[in-house]
Amino acid sequence: MQMVRLLPALAIAMTAPAFAAISSAPFGETPAGEQVQIFTLSNSNGFEARIMTYGGIIVSLKAPDKNGNLGDVVHGFDSLDGYLGEHPYFGALIGRYGNRIARGQFKIDDRTYALATNNDFNHLHGGLKGFDKVVWAAKPFENSAGAGVELTYVSPDGDQGYPGELAATVTYTLGGENELRIDYHATTNKPTVLNLTNHSYFNLSGDGRATVLDHELTLEADHYTPIDSTLIPTGKLEGVGGTPFDFRQATKIGARINDKGEQIANGLGYDHNFVVRRSTTSELELAARVHEPTSGRVLEVLTTEPGVQFYSGNFLDGAVVGKSGVDYPRRSALCLETQHFPDSPNQKNFPSTVLRPGQTYESTTVFRFSVNK
Ligand code: GLA
Repeated sequence: MQMVRLLPALAIAMTAPAFAAISSAPFGETPAGEQVQIFTLSNSNGFEARIMTYGGIIVSLKAPDKNGNLGDVVHGFDSLDGYLGEHPYFGALIGRYGNRIARGQFKIDDRTYALATNNDFNHLHGGLKGFDKVVWAAKPFENSAGAGVELTYVSPDGDQGYPGELAATVTYTLGGENELRIDYHATTNKPTVLNLTNHSYFNLSGDGRATVLDHELTLEADHYTPIDSTLIPTGKLEGVGGTPFDFRQATKIGARINDKGEQIANGLGYDHNFVVRRSTTSELELAARVHEPTSGRVLEVLTTEPGVQFYSGNFLDGAVVGKSGVDYPRRSALCLETQHFPDSPNQKNFPSTVLRPGQTYESTTVFRFSVNK
């Protein structure tokens, strides 16, 4: 009799929402003497994100495979030192502007602004010292949505050439489901441009030595924005049909990555902004889905943004030695950077990235994990 009563109770306990918690620890010091903290957000499935205050960086993200084994699915380093050195924005918050602004110049209300140029003559990912290289103030919390950390940073007027003092808040939340939610919020005291994102490098196999060429990708995009040889959009929206950019059906990343053609050549593979097929202007909608067949892991990216940069790790070349001494090879990770389109400040036909005093910038992205058995 007792067994009969116990079994349904156990079944209920196993399907009830998993509990999420947060803890913190010191993670070192910057050369300027700023203390860096690392927060561990986890739920009772074992799903776990470690996020530090330097760059708001996702240091590790552990998700279960089809057998329930946890694996770290993002590139990065074991300690702060690696992040303080040269690296291609592993896991970082990107600001003030994700991706490129041509020649580091743009106009608002007929006034021209000149930004730091750090990608030949273009401005990339916020300049020489973007939001990936500053220490954010942190406030951990636990509430009914889960556990999380609210990061804040005030970028001074003129920072990297951008007008206006910009107050940014980025909140990472991990709940009972295996997903990490990122909420971005900002205000300015002068008209400016803004495009915040996160630059995590995913390899869903959990093995950073493997390439992602066998990962199967679906992009909810009928168009992409073609680029010139300096990776600046031409301004056109091009249909993906009949091109290597058609990921409307799940397709292996490696299937067409070496195809002949100007666009693959300009990106050295995939390094393009895709126009998310949206049915609303500002709700969270699915933009991308990635499946890694061996582990069964699935990552879905949901966003309120109009675009997503699919970057196939073409510039990784084994030079950066990351976690456990792994020298991440070319195409050993992919990025899905939710965003407004690159170079929007200079493109009349792209959705605007201008933020004015009195307006609030709001954006949300969710990295949702599951398995295909
Ligand atoms: C983005 C860009 C790439 C490259 C990486 C960082 O994804 O689109 O061209 O700069 O960041 O290496």
